Amino acid sequence: GDMARFIAAMPKAEYHVHLEGTLEAEMKFALAQRNGVKLPYADVAAMKRSYVYHDLPSFLAIYYDGMNVLLKQQDFYDLAYAYLAKAHAQNVLYAEMFFDPQQHIDRGIAVEAVIEGITQARADAQAKLGIESQLILCFMRDLTADNAMKALDAALPYKDRLVGVGLDSDEKDNPPGKFAAHFAKARAAGLHVTTHCDVNQKDTLGHIREALLDIGVERIDHGGNILQSPELMAIARQRGITFTVCPTFSGQILVNGKPVDVVRGMLDNGLKVTLNSDDPAYMGSEYINEVMVKAQIRSNLTKAELLRIERNAFDAAWIAPERKAAFQ
Ligand code: HPA
Ligand code: ZN
Repeated sequence: GDMARFIAAMPKAEYHVHLEGTLEAEMKFALAQRNGVKLPYADVAAMKRSYVYHDLPSFLAIYYDGMNVLLKQQDFYDLAYAYLAKAHAQNVLYAEMFFDPQQHIDRGIAVEAVIEGITQARADAQAKLGIESQLILCFMRDLTADNAMKALDAALPYKDRLVGVGLDSDEKDNPPGKFAAHFAKARAAGLHVTTHCDVNQKDTLGHIREALLDIGVERIDHGGNILQSPELMAIARQRGITFTVCPTFSGQILVNGKPVDVVRGMLDNGLKVTLNSDDPAYMGSEYINEVMVKAQIRSNLTKAELLRIERNAFDAAWIAPERKAAFQ
């Protein structure tokens, strides 16, 4: 309809997309064949039928299992280029993409191969398609602090290929403060800082508080539970914190026992909300346009609100202000 056309035509930016979460079943089969990896599924349809999860840990198990076909630098190139080509086709001008190096290092892959493959894809996508992108290294919060520090130290020689660090994986009993030293080291190396605060996890509000007050993050990925705390919302507004909401995953929360739509709640509370696709290959292959079309309906967004959301997004870009002007 008219709204879908409006959304498709809008210049967009995306900040919350895990590259490994863009690994489509078709590519998984192709890489498995190229790398001689055996998959326990007869075909693409059977693989997609296995993508059934009911919470963050059960989602993560499927997502990490899917990474086993990613072995060579070329695989990471192909993965990143495919995402950037899709994003470009949907009028995304700029993307900042997460990756999970620990999961690859722990499988014996050099972090250099991961970063170089993605970096080459970024350069080619910019040259051939005109889409600009940057890369955010995520610490996996459910692994040890030592494991994350080893990954950071291995990646820091390539810090000019990174724009920031983030925090993802299983939230339970893994507060941002567990990685305070990592964030400090990354910041000292000139990198920006964000963290996931997945919705409706154990102590999500405590994690949001720590991220804002102790770590000093610039963004919060998801973060919908902040609507339960007027005090934390005031801090986020005052600091201009951007929220990278993925409505597919984090649509609703309870505020005083009543269900509240996260995107609507953030807009109405003056928070800087953006819309993002998270792990599209595992979420019905819905990329930014499909995500926004659904969010427009569910959150009853006007065209003016959609434009405000994309203005928030371009404002949030971790690029030099003079280069940001090219997007406005
Ligand atoms: N939350 C936590 N960890 C993740 C996510 C997410 O949305 N996507 C991929 N890893
Ligand atoms: Zn995420």
